[in-house]
Amino acid sequence: MFKILSTASALPKCRKTNDDLSTFLDTSDEWISQRTGIRERAVCTDETLTDLLTQAADQALERAGITAQELDLILCATIRGDYITPSQACVIQKEIGASCPAMDISAACTGFIYALDVAAGYFARKKVKKVLVLAGDCMTRMMDWSDRSTCVLFGDGAGAVVLGEGENLMAIQLTANGNVDVLNIPHVGGDSPFDKLPKNQSYLSMNGKEVYKFAVSSMYRDVQIVCDQAGVKVEDVDWIVPHQANLRIIEAAAHKLKVSGEKCLTGIENLGNTSAASIPIVLDRANTEGKFKAGDLLVLTAFGAGLTTGACVLRW
Ligand code: UT7
Repeated sequence: MFKILSTASALPKCRKTNDDLSTFLDTSDEWISQRTGIRERAVCTDETLTDLLTQAADQALERAGITAQELDLILCATIRGDYITPSQACVIQKEIGASCPAMDISAACTGFIYALDVAAGYFARKKVKKVLVLAGDCMTRMMDWSDRSTCVLFGDGAGAVVLGEGENLMAIQLTANGNVDVLNIPHVGGDSPFDKLPKNQSYLSMNGKEVYKFAVSSMYRDVQIVCDQAGVKVEDVDWIVPHQANLRIIEAAAHKLKVSGEKCLTGIENLGNTSAASIPIVLDRANTEGKFKAGDLLVLTAFGAGLTTGACVLRW
């Protein structure tokens, strides 16, 4: 089906520590770091999501040694692009000078793995030879900054991979269990004179405890399922690349799976939760640090609003 030819990522330049947040919120570095592992996050100031994704896309193409014109498909996992329409993928297609089909994937923090599965279908049908998979969100622009229980958790960023033909995807599986109450971000109302619906603020709201329980149990389940499908044992996996929402979630899932901490890649400490971008950012960091050897077994695992989950096994 496919193999990953290159990885890339981009973050906004402004960084905010927990102490910075405690200057205007009733919170503390101690509370945030102990409950989540987060110490700082990158936040958008004058950057758009398009800026971050374009930077990641250009870098991914350069590292793959291909031009934008060689792309056959662009997929972008995002909760909210810079425009409701056109899709964020179409915006990036223009920015990088590509001319292939482009579309967004909406699966919140699981979006990157959903996009990999969509790409796998295109490769299986032999419709594509090169695919750019992007993931990014400016989560800090979707927060109620007076709600300390949510705004401290998120950060902004983008990640990208270029996929080419190959046999590195060994198993992938997705789930969805529709549930608006646990985690949602409503639309902003329009200006129709006929509209009788209440005008919403477009802020994230979440039942943190419910998401926490769902996250640990679904990661535990999904990693075992994809390892079974790939015919490998969990203990033989070299690297787990989990969605970065809370260090305690990652540690609890790893503990249940009996996987040592060093095998779990983390970046939450200085990223916060960057939604679908978190896996490709952490993947890119580890890749550029030279952590992965050819043949290493990687498991990617994510959960998010929907509620959605996804996991896959890749041979590096
Ligand atoms: O990508 C998916 C996105 N979401 C997640 O993955 C979130 C999953 N859930 C979590 O990570 C955790 O549930 C949280 C980190 C969000 C919260 O941890 P918790 O241990 O479940 O805390 P809690 O909500 O039970 O709050 C405990 C206390 C409360 O005070 P009282 O009622 O005990 O007096 C909160 O008001 O902590 C208080 N609190 C805070 N205090 C200082 C909540 N937020 C803050 C804060 N600073 N930022």
